[in-house]
Amino acid sequence: MSLTTNAPVLDGAAEHSDALVFFGATGDLAYKKVFPALYAMTKRGHLNIPVIGVASSSWTVDDLRKRAHDSVDTHGGIDDPKVFETLSGLLNYVDGDYLQEKTYTALRKALGGAKRPAHYLAIPPSLFPTVVEGLGRSGAADNARVIVEKPFGRDLASAQLLNQVLHSVFPEPSIFRIDHYLGKEPIENLLYFRFANTFLEPIWNRNYLESVQITMAENFGVQGRGKFYEEVGALRDVVQNHMLQTTALLAMEPPVGGTNEALRDEKEKVFKAMRTLLPTDLVRGQFIGYRDEDGVAPASDVETFAAVKVMIDSWRWEGVPFFIRAGKEMPVEATEVLARFKRPPQQVFAEELIDPDDSNYLRLRLGPDRVAIALGCRAKVPGESFVGAPVELYLCNQSSDEMSPYERLLGDAMSGRSMLFAREDGVEAAWRVVNRVLDDHGPAHPYHPKTWGPSEASAVLPQGDYWHDPEA
Ligand code: BG6
Repeated sequence: MSLTTNAPVLDGAAEHSDALVFFGATGDLAYKKVFPALYAMTKRGHLNIPVIGVASSSWTVDDLRKRAHDSVDTHGGIDDPKVFETLSGLLNYVDGDYLQEKTYTALRKALGGAKRPAHYLAIPPSLFPTVVEGLGRSGAADNARVIVEKPFGRDLASAQLLNQVLHSVFPEPSIFRIDHYLGKEPIENLLYFRFANTFLEPIWNRNYLESVQITMAENFGVQGRGKFYEEVGALRDVVQNHMLQTTALLAMEPPVGGTNEALRDEKEKVFKAMRTLLPTDLVRGQFIGYRDEDGVAPASDVETFAAVKVMIDSWRWEGVPFFIRAGKEMPVEATEVLARFKRPPQQVFAEELIDPDDSNYLRLRLGPDRVAIALGCRAKVPGESFVGAPVELYLCNQSSDEMSPYERLLGDAMSGRSMLFAREDGVEAAWRVVNRVLDDHGPAHPYHPKTWGPSEASAVLPQGDYWHDPEA
C-alpha cells in the first residue's frame, strides 16, 4: 500500500512534467500563492524545470521576475537570495491574448524541447474553454497535464459542461483539479490518523458514533471580493467542495490497492451515498454589513453562512448525521471536526448527564494555525462521591504550516500523483448533493458579525443538541 505523496505512483504514466506553464501569471492567485509555492519548491530542490508565465499584460520576463520577487517577499519572505536567483533563472514569460492563435504558437516556441508540460490555468473558469482549445490546436497539450482551480462549475450542469470542455483535449488522468483544502497539512493528518491507527476502526461507525459536526469558521468577511461572492455564496464557495471533501475523508472506507485512484474511488463512493440535500436540511445566513460591501446588491440574499445536515446512506453511516457549518465573520478562524460518541449503554453512576458535551468525543482541529487531535472523556472528580467531569486528552498538537497546499499540490500534479485532486465523478456527485438547494431554499437569516451565525442554524440539529464552537 503506498498512498504517501513520496511513494511511487503505481498507475503508470507518471513521468515528471518537464515544464510548468502558468496562465494568469500576472494575476492575484499567482501573486499570493503560486510564486511563494514555487520558491518553496526551489528551496527544497524540487523545482528545476522551466516555468513559463503567460498573460496578456504587455509584460516582459523582467517584469515577471520583479513580480515574483515582490510576491515571495510579501508572502513568506526571501530567506535565501540564492534560491530566489535559481527560481528567477527558471522563469520565462509569454505575452499574448488568450483568444489569439499566435499566443499559443509563441508558447509552443518557448516550450522548446519540452515533451510533457503541465499547464496550470490560474485564470477565471470562463476562460478555460478558450485556453484549453488553444492548447489543443497548438500541440502544446500533447502528452501534457492540465491543472485547474475551483470553482469547477456553479451547479451540476455547468460542472458537466466544464468537464466536457477539458475532456475534449485532455484525458481525465491528465487533469488535476485543485481543491486546495486537500493539500492542507491538517487534512493529510486526518487521512493518516484514520488509516494508520487500529483503535479507531471498530468504533468509527454507526454503532458508536452519534453524530459528526464540522465547522469551518472564518473571522473575516468577503475581503473586497463582494462581486465574486455574490455569484457564489457559502454553499458553492466552500460547502460543495472543501467541506464535502473533508466529509468524504472522514467517512470513506480504507483505500484498496496501492494506486493513486484507490483513495479517490473510496471518496467517490461516499459522495454517491450522500443524500441529496432538501430545503429542510439547510439553514442559510448573511452577516449584517455584507450588503454594504462593494459589488453586493442592496437586497442581496446570498448566504455568507450555511449550516447543513448530510446523511450518508451506507452500511457504516446509516443514521449518523454529518452536520456542516461554514461562515464568514465568525468569532474565530478555525476548522474543526467534533465526532460525538453515543453514551455508555447504562448509566452506572448517579450523575445527571444530559448535556451533549458530556459524551465522549473525538475532536480534530484542522487549522488554520494548528493541527490537533483530542479525545473527550469523563474522569472521576477526586472525593467521596462518584461524580465526574469532562477531561480532554491531547493526542497531537502541532503547527500546520510546514508545507503550503499549493506547494504540495503543484508538486504532486507535476509528478502525476493524482490522489489529492478532485476527480470528475467526485466533483459531479458533490454537485448533485447540493444541486437542489442551490435555488430551492429559505431566506438567508441575518446575523451579527463575530457571532456563530443565525440562531436558526440549530434547526438542522436534533432537539437538545447544539453546535460545537471551536476555540480561538
Ligand atoms: C476558498 C474560498 O476556496 O477557501 C474562500 O473561496 C475561503 O472564501 C478559502 O476563505 C478558505 O481557505 P483557507 O486556505 O484560506 O482557509
